[in-house]
Amino acid sequence: MKSFWLLPFGATELVGCRRFGRVAYRAYDQEVPALNALLRGRALFGASFDMEAVDDPAYGALFRKHCGLLTTDFSMKFGPLRPSMDRVDFSKADRLIDFAAEAAIPVRGHCLIWNEGNPEWLKRLSPAEVRYWLDRHVAEMVGRYAGRMHSWDVVNEPFWPDHGAEGGFRKGVWYDAMGPGYIQRAFSRAAIADPTVKLCLNEAWVERNTPMAQKVRQGLLRTVRNLLDAGARIDAVGLQCHLEPGPSMSLNVLSDFIGELGELPVEVYITELDVRDGSLRMSRRDAEVAVAELYGDFSNTVLAHANVKAMISWQLSDKYSWLRKEGFGQTPLPFDSNMRPNPAYFELARVFCEHSR
Ligand code: G3I
Repeated sequence: MKSFWLLPFGATELVGCRRFGRVAYRAYDQEVPALNALLRGRALFGASFDMEAVDDPAYGALFRKHCGLLTTDFSMKFGPLRPSMDRVDFSKADRLIDFAAEAAIPVRGHCLIWNEGNPEWLKRLSPAEVRYWLDRHVAEMVGRYAGRMHSWDVVNEPFWPDHGAEGGFRKGVWYDAMGPGYIQRAFSRAAIADPTVKLCLNEAWVERNTPMAQKVRQGLLRTVRNLLDAGARIDAVGLQCHLEPGPSMSLNVLSDFIGELGELPVEVYITELDVRDGSLRMSRRDAEVAVAELYGDFSNTVLAHANVKAMISWQLSDKYSWLRKEGFGQTPLPFDSNMRPNPAYFELARVFCEHSR
């Protein structure tokens, strides 16, 4: 099992990170360079954040140091914002936007329309009422933060072939009310509400070498082409990349797909990067090294494509990872639960140096 040795850092630069021996050095965050800075503008590195970053000073400091782009995790989703039909609560969303503004870090809003995680009151409405709420929610959310956002995940996870819908679309309140047309409707309403923000279609699974994932990739390409042909504004495709080491994950398949997207006039963002290391049957120390190797190989693969403009992890510290909460992983992210660099940090830093401008 290859491992990592951290050479002594200079004042600001990563001198180098070579693979020999085992992990021999645990740096403190103040001793290591900022990840986004190491990319020197080749792409933006960032992470998803929510109230933990606002309430936990050590965690907030980690975002301020290492991130050049932030994605909202939970508080800008339809459910948390609209717990009932007659109440909308922007308080947490506003605090996230204020945090990012104070840190001068651009923000991606996640997510306007998703067939998951919707409140029960919405599911009880007629198709016409659901259509009304799509229009109203997109106009109110995008309009409220117009001119202050980097991009929006306008529609999240539009595909789930196992639902049996034609084209492999994910069923749910929006699809059931309007069919696949809800996607273009959401993009057109968002473009009206904020002509300055980039509009993104966000999806998972594309790094998997399975028949289901192939249907998702085909559906994503087809939908992007249809939106473009219809004159809708779509600026980016988000590839979540919740990586699960094993035979069904293929960086070659992912690379080929990013190449296909490169033939379209859209940017590619890696939007929810983490590693589901719970499936690794090995010691924690060996898992940390295996996760680090995957971070290195993955970032090398995606940064080889010029259309990849952002790499965003799904949270930044193991402490707040959904994978930890769900029991799917111990060490899925670049920083451990004490906000100290994991081996994955060093592999990201090494590869970022190699791809920096
Ligand atoms: O904040 C409340 C807390 O006040 C309350 O006490 C607690 C009780 O359960 O719930 C807390 O909210 C939870 C929220 O995460 C914040 O931790 C919700 O129950 C929980 O459902 C929510 O889960 C999030 C999930 O999306 C659903 O929104 C995960 O953290 C988040 O990592 C996950 O992220 C998704 C992306 O949006 C889309 N791609 C997949 C990714 C992972 O599932």
